[in-house]
Amino acid sequence: MDSSIIIAIDGYASTGKSTLAKMLSKYFQIPFIDSGALYRGITLYGIENQFLKSNALDQLALKKELDRVIMKFDLTGKLYLNGENISEKIRLPEVSDNVSTIAALAFVRDFTLKQLRKMASDSGLVMDGRDVGTVVFPDADYKFFFNARPEIRAQRRYEELKAKGQNITLEEVLKNLIQRDELDSKRDIHPLRKAKDAIEIDTSELTTEQIFTLLIEKIHSK
Ligand code: CDP
Repeated sequence: MDSSIIIAIDGYASTGKSTLAKMLSKYFQIPFIDSGALYRGITLYGIENQFLKSNALDQLALKKELDRVIMKFDLTGKLYLNGENISEKIRLPEVSDNVSTIAALAFVRDFTLKQLRKMASDSGLVMDGRDVGTVVFPDADYKFFFNARPEIRAQRRYEELKAKGQNITLEEVLKNLIQRDELDSKRDIHPLRKAKDAIEIDTSELTTEQIFTLLIEKIHSK
């Protein structure tokens, strides 16, 4: 297997994209990049700097300040914003509730797109998100598109967040996933779409091991 392969995994919220991307990263010994983490990082920055208050956004201020934002992943996948490890904070409900609004802004997507493309080093990578196979790497070697029933996705994310100690209900998680799917699919710029050449996988009834086996089969048979 060529070690400079690019694998794109797009799809709806909480369908298992990052979990599987991490497994593929280990298997192929290529870096894993969670593109959604950058959108979450910018959202966190907006909240912490008061550009985003009770759902009102000061777009001009955010745009002006974006130049000061330096985000980097370390080798273990932790995300740092201007030197601070924000990996835990970007999963907080106030970030999840606002991220799709921030991710719909043209200047935010321009900023992120440049950073994501820079991350494709000679070693290849596996990246998950919403527009990786359509916009970030339209020439990716392998493209997958994940979907699953909303109730199943909400249950999985709820358990994940509970395990991290978050105080949230299953209903709140479900509401957030549905709201993000809607905003992500309907935005004008780089909406969530299956790339024509992406393989669609419904992960509702599959374990992570089963999805992994399926992805490896598809990759080897291409
Ligand atoms: O992990 P989960 O499926 O909950 O979402 P995520 O990957 O952390 O992405 C958070 C949000 O970032 C999404 O709901 C989108 O609004 C945005 N996003 C995007 O617009 N484009 C991407 N390539 C990745 C994420």
